[in-house]
Amino acid sequence: MGKHFFKQTIRDVDVERETVLVRVDYNVPMNDDGTIADDLRIRASLPTIRYLLESQCRLVLISHMGRPEGRDASLSLAPVAARLAELLGQSVKFIDDCVGDKVRQTVRHSPCGSVILLENLRYYPEEEADDMNFAKSIVKSTGAAFFVQDGFGAAHRAHASTHAITMCLPSFAGLLLEKEYTMITRSMDQPSRPLVAVIGGAKISDKIDLIRRLIDRADKVLIGGAMANTFLQFKGYNVGKSVWEPGQEEVLRDIYAKASGKVGEGSVDDFIVLPSDVAVGANTSDKDQPRREVSVDRIAEDEMALDIGSESIERFSSIIKQAGTVIWNGPVGYSTIESFSFGSARTALAIASNQSAVSIVGGGDTADFVLKWDGGDGESFTHVSTGGGASMELMSGQKLPGVESLLDAYGPGVLH
Ligand code: 3PG
Repeated sequence: MGKHFFKQTIRDVDVERETVLVRVDYNVPMNDDGTIADDLRIRASLPTIRYLLESQCRLVLISHMGRPEGRDASLSLAPVAARLAELLGQSVKFIDDCVGDKVRQTVRHSPCGSVILLENLRYYPEEEADDMNFAKSIVKSTGAAFFVQDGFGAAHRAHASTHAITMCLPSFAGLLLEKEYTMITRSMDQPSRPLVAVIGGAKISDKIDLIRRLIDRADKVLIGGAMANTFLQFKGYNVGKSVWEPGQEEVLRDIYAKASGKVGEGSVDDFIVLPSDVAVGANTSDKDQPRREVSVDRIAEDEMALDIGSESIERFSSIIKQAGTVIWNGPVGYSTIESFSFGSARTALAIASNQSAVSIVGGGDTADFVLKWDGGDGESFTHVSTGGGASMELMSGQKLPGVESLLDAYGPGVLH
């Protein structure tokens, strides 16, 4: 796995009995009662933590949670410390700040092999401002000798804990960061073919770089979700009250021109595959409304397309069955209403049933969906990413500041 990755990892450095600062992404979804709704990101951080504990390190973990403006008790990382302790089977000390004397004293008095989690970095605006002095304060307060970046979900941000801090300490990748990077870039750069991409979600404008790259690299691009409505509208269908995104004609013309250049005009609709039928509803608020399916040329003025229909599900599934690699980014229907979650459930089933394919599920809504569908562990898929924006930017071919700023594995300065 390491070969594909171009940065030094924790395997490349001797950290025995050192204080190591580890950036994780514990921005986990919370329930209204303050409990953790999904602990994927905490579980995903365990291999790096365990690896460093085997080297008798003193670990100081840092993360953000949500987008607070100043201190906000509802976005405290305290519940995460409790869950991490359960998963690790050892105590995790939580400190209600991420800089200052309390941090200094606690770390200094903690023995090797202890794990300390600091409070939400974003209580300080300096974090998002990529403030060098803030990064220096974290390093000084913790007395860390090394920095490890393992917060893949935040690696697309150039913040103090993902960027500035790498100028203060020798900085290495953690095992999750290495795995995410390798799985995602390998599936885009050297896929087992055919490479089938399933793209859903609401907006083309959010995913335009990804769609363009997939037009270049994939063998089939299946479009679902509200995004499909914008494609259908562009093709002249009446989408009624459906959510679609105006102002994308230029972008879509360009996408179709590129696709035609690649596969020939006559085959373009077999390459960019749109739904031929949809499940319609009256709104997105009535959770109990029934599912009714119509052909895409029969959507009434007062109806909303909220899922792909049965014929489209069959077509998508048979394409996925032939795939060597499947990349899935974005639910194909309005999956928070049960009767409109069939398309995404059948997509998940088709991907999970193709055991010979490499399957990569993008983070965010798609990961949330497959984890629920899969009973919480996502093991039916080759890789379920912990990063939403980060996985999309990486799939789109963009460089991630949190990765770029680490020590290179090749060239001068190699430690092994
Ligand atoms: C995420 O949930 O995608 C990451 O934790 C990054 O969060 P952000 O979008 O608030 O920077």
